[in-house]
Amino acid sequence: MHFLITAGPTREPLDPVRYLTNRSSGKMGYALAEAAVRAAHQVTLISGPVSQSVPDGVRLIPVETAQQMWESTRNALASQSYDVAILAAAVADYRPISIQAQKIKKESESLTLELERTPDILGSMRTVFGFKGLLVGFAAETENLTGNAFLKLQRKGCDLVVANDVSRKDTGFDSDDNEVVLCHAGGTSEPILKTSKRELAVVIVEKCIQLKASQLPVVD
Ligand code: PMT
Repeated sequence: MHFLITAGPTREPLDPVRYLTNRSSGKMGYALAEAAVRAAHQVTLISGPVSQSVPDGVRLIPVETAQQMWESTRNALASQSYDVAILAAAVADYRPISIQAQKIKKESESLTLELERTPDILGSMRTVFGFKGLLVGFAAETENLTGNAFLKLQRKGCDLVVANDVSRKDTGFDSDDNEVVLCHAGGTSEPILKTSKRELAVVIVEKCIQLKASQLPVVD
């Protein structure tokens, strides 16, 4: 099967030296890429700037901004067919409306930034890109973990949402471990207690393969 995976943060430039970003290390997304390639699947990894090693056999498409990640995802889906897409990137939801050509000087005591929404990659998968394969999103929440995850699942047309509590210090962003709840389109949820992101990635990839197999049309 062919997996498309997004990973890492995006950087939204403000001026030539500054950007808005978040705390994603890319560990979760790269662990998923490694688990899928080790299970003998083809993997395309679209990644924001991180310092993770790219697993052998994985095709990497490096990007910086949410706009670039959106365009790279669209182009990847247009150029070949994918069975499974797992969107683990922590895409910045907002970016500065204008990027200053020169470094912003500290001339006043306060500075107000005007921000605009970035494109929603997960939200475009079904509606704009026409993706028909198994769609897995993540939900990074600090409250109402499964409630918010199921809302995302419905709004974005996902088959599965992996919900993680990013208010914890020992899991979520930048940690080697994660604890999640798998929220299925049928309304069921499956907690996975704290484990390493690498082990969790194996479980998620296996789950994707099972779900994909259960979606395949039966041929007599
Ligand atoms: O990278 P690590 O340090 O290992 O941390 C892992 C992680 C916490 C980043 C990862 O487990 C995780 O939760 N990734 C999703 C982070 C996130 O942005 O969640 P969200 O709830 O804001 O977004 C929901 C979904 O929409 C995600 O699948 C996200 O990739 C996607 N999204 C969000 C915004 C946007 N503009 N486009 C998107 O595709």
